[in-house]
Amino acid sequence: MILLDGKKTSGDLKKEIAASVADRISQGKKAPHLAAILVGTDGASMTYVNAKVKACQRVGFDSTLINMPADSSEEKLLQEIDQLNRRKDIDGFIVQLPLPAHIDEQKILMAVDPEKDVDGFHPVNVGKMALNLPCFLPATPFGIMELLERYQVPTSGKQVVVIGRSHIVGRPMSILMSQQRPAGNATVTVAHSRTQNLKALTLQADIIVAALGIPGFLTGDMVKEGVTVVDVGITRLEDPSKKSGYRLSGDVHFESVSKKSSHITPVPGGVGPMTIAMLMKNTLLACKRKDG
Ligand code: GUN
Repeated sequence: MILLDGKKTSGDLKKEIAASVADRISQGKKAPHLAAILVGTDGASMTYVNAKVKACQRVGFDSTLINMPADSSEEKLLQEIDQLNRRKDIDGFIVQLPLPAHIDEQKILMAVDPEKDVDGFHPVNVGKMALNLPCFLPATPFGIMELLERYQVPTSGKQVVVIGRSHIVGRPMSILMSQQRPAGNATVTVAHSRTQNLKALTLQADIIVAALGIPGFLTGDMVKEGVTVVDVGITRLEDPSKKSGYRLSGDVHFESVSKKSSHITPVPGGVGPMTIAMLMKNTLLACKRKDG
């Protein structure tokens, strides 16, 4: 069993990005600048955004964090986005999801300038992705593709089952893996909450991407020998024995599934760190596109 080590791989990627930044600076160019808008004080979202800011510091980017109260109006958020769209010093920005229920998420994502949309959530970037045109790929699927590529997991002609059809992970994963590209050329099935007899599908799969958000959902009896498993789930489960009061659980029952796997991502230390590294990669790309 080979562990798809996202922590190590993301470390390698961040070193590569830091070297590119140092190169830019030595040529008298500016450092890339990422901004993030966080609405409210959701614990998980705060953790993710802080991790993104910390990653910026590590690779030599400038970063700006805009904290807005949970009861901020949609109008106020649209104004902040408009300002970031106009600011010449900002190369890319993200609006951390989920947003409070009174804000229309789609309306917000559509307000972001596609040239600064380093999350790849704007319909222009989603459309370009579907057409395999140059664009910002959403960071989690982009990170998974990078991990599969760097570990040389064979994907061409393989049976892939993606569990989950979210706009952020499942849907883009299914599109990318079926495309003609590195870690692509696979035959992809998208399974979801209405899928019947999921186990019959997963037992046939060479690669399973579990992105449904149910801790420990995929168990050893559901997979075949030699499978590659990518676990996108990261649910906080209460655990009084931990200092934080919780532990992170993936969608995969690691103990039983890893015994049958050729490759598997751990949680934590798998997909999560890759997501942040790919956001840095997109921001560097945005900066290069804008300033050369
Ligand atoms: N919430 C969960 N994943 C993501 C992500 O990749 N980007 C943003 N902006 N919010 C998220």
